[in-house]
Amino acid sequence: MCGIVALTLKEGNASPLLHSALKRLEYRGYDSAGIATLYGEKIFVKKDAGKIDEIHARLNFDNMPGSVGVSHTRWSTHGAPTRENAHPHLDCKNTVAVVHNGVIENFLELKEELMDRGHRFVSRTDTEVISHLVEEGLDAGENLYNATVNALRRLRGSYALAIISTREPNKIVCARNESPLVLGLSDSGTFCASDIPAILPYTNKIIILNNGELAVLEADNIIIKRISDGVTLSREAKVIEWSIEQAEKQGYPHFMLKEIHEQPTSLRNALRLQEQYLDLITTFLDRGEKIFLLAAGTSHYACIAASYMFSKLARLATYPVVSSEFIENYGDSIGIDTVVLAVSQSGETYDTLKAVDYARMRAATILGITNVVGSTLTRVSRAYIVQQSGPEIGVAATKSYTAQVLVLAQLALKLAKMRGKLSQDEIDEVKASLQRIPETVENILEKREEKVKELARKYAKEKTFLFLGRGISTATALEGRLKLLEISYKPSLAYPAGESKHGPISVVEDGTPTIFICPNDETRKDIIGNMMEMKARGAKIISLCEEGDQKIADLSDDIIEVPKVHPILSPIPYIIPLQLLAYYIAVENGLDPDKPRNLAKSVTVP
Ligand code: G6P
Repeated sequence: MCGIVALTLKEGNASPLLHSALKRLEYRGYDSAGIATLYGEKIFVKKDAGKIDEIHARLNFDNMPGSVGVSHTRWSTHGAPTRENAHPHLDCKNTVAVVHNGVIENFLELKEELMDRGHRFVSRTDTEVISHLVEEGLDAGENLYNATVNALRRLRGSYALAIISTREPNKIVCARNESPLVLGLSDSGTFCASDIPAILPYTNKIIILNNGELAVLEADNIIIKRISDGVTLSREAKVIEWSIEQAEKQGYPHFMLKEIHEQPTSLRNALRLQEQYLDLITTFLDRGEKIFLLAAGTSHYACIAASYMFSKLARLATYPVVSSEFIENYGDSIGIDTVVLAVSQSGETYDTLKAVDYARMRAATILGITNVVGSTLTRVSRAYIVQQSGPEIGVAATKSYTAQVLVLAQLALKLAKMRGKLSQDEIDEVKASLQRIPETVENILEKREEKVKELARKYAKEKTFLFLGRGISTATALEGRLKLLEISYKPSLAYPAGESKHGPISVVEDGTPTIFICPNDETRKDIIGNMMEMKARGAKIISLCEEGDQKIADLSDDIIEVPKVHPILSPIPYIIPLQLLAYYIAVENGLDPDKPRNLAKSVTVP
């Protein structure tokens, strides 16, 4: 995930401090880094793709002049990891430098408009439009604050950003919408950063900037304003007692829990994809005779959910296949009429890439969904989408799963529209529910975490669990089981509930915890039947159901309620309590959920 740090000092050079602050942002993951400082009438920039140490060895970050500067670690979202795309980004006259974390949705429109007015762009990033918009304001005689506010008013999307300009060399203007930003105060200067660990060695007096707020930093003063109306806000600094390690997890005990809680943001970002890429992928999918959804691990379960979405919304049959089985199972049937949509968080999973290579050799069209720009999957795909989840550090995938499902749901809906398979009212209904998904997830995290913790305490010592769902909830059952299995080492079963009579029911005895995923969709009536069968054999029934579903509540020993969503989107909210359950059961058992034994985040070997 991109990280920014900016600081203005009363005396001394900013760049060595920025350099060491960037090192403390490394844990977030990045592919490029850069620093800009202000000295006299000039902006000095050093930036490149690669690791901070390598760039520093070549360029020396520590000898840049000036006591004011901005800096950045980049995790590519728009444009490959190259020097040109690395931040800071300048305007046409080198009078403005901008660092940014977030996604500007409407950057293509703005870029076109700015180019028509003669601006020269050197990068493929969404960020560069901000430098040029601020430049226009300054040229029109505005001060840096007003030029920034006017630029921000043109932006749609998320941002944490810091801006410096030669016109007002002692200031930094920074602003926040959705992407995090904190401010710091000390006797030697003022600071802003994407997270606390970056600046903790310099100060522990921290102010959290809220969404829709902007701050003007001078070496001895910080002014905070609301962007919408310019009202000045007063806010006391908090004294942070965290160690750097605690601060990296933003106070959460583990990255996994932090990432579970990041889902409202990562889902908002997954709703901000560039339309033209969604359109391109949809067009290729529409042309395919045979469509395979290729993936491993959690990404495979996202594909299982997607296969229901493609069928129900776009009336299109797709085959979700585990990458390692693809060649053996379907290899001989692959040809020019085949479309392979490969889904891989890392874009580097060996089995997925091997299957993709095989399909390419047989003239199939390769499409990709990944979280990593510049990954091998992006290079071998005819078209690809970056799911915008930011780096995931916990080995067990959480935020990357829900974002994959959300991207796939958007594709299924587009395809439905393209193929004329749904009425406008139906499309609008799914769309409205899609837009509310981040809020729904926020609501679950706020209201249900305590209940899940209580259940984790109650069931933590059980040896095995059963996860059952019908229809699209089969994917949720499989992914919920995988989370528990990965981090709690509890061999557990997950099945389509309809299959439970063909085997799994034999393991049920008095007290076997059996988790039913029962959203209020067309499978509800049948799953109630399965629930009764299990209950009759002594199973303890734990149900995930829609808020207010009394019938399910009456049949269950424990329930976790989930707000109403369109049934086709249920895999996203319904997995949240199961991620939390797996996490808290691991913690109850004294296990480290971030580092499950024998597992790797990215499996790049056969
Ligand atoms: C490993 C990880 C899983 C992940 C799977 C596929 O097993 O531990 O979390 O789901 O690889 O990874 P990919 O990067 O291809 O989605």
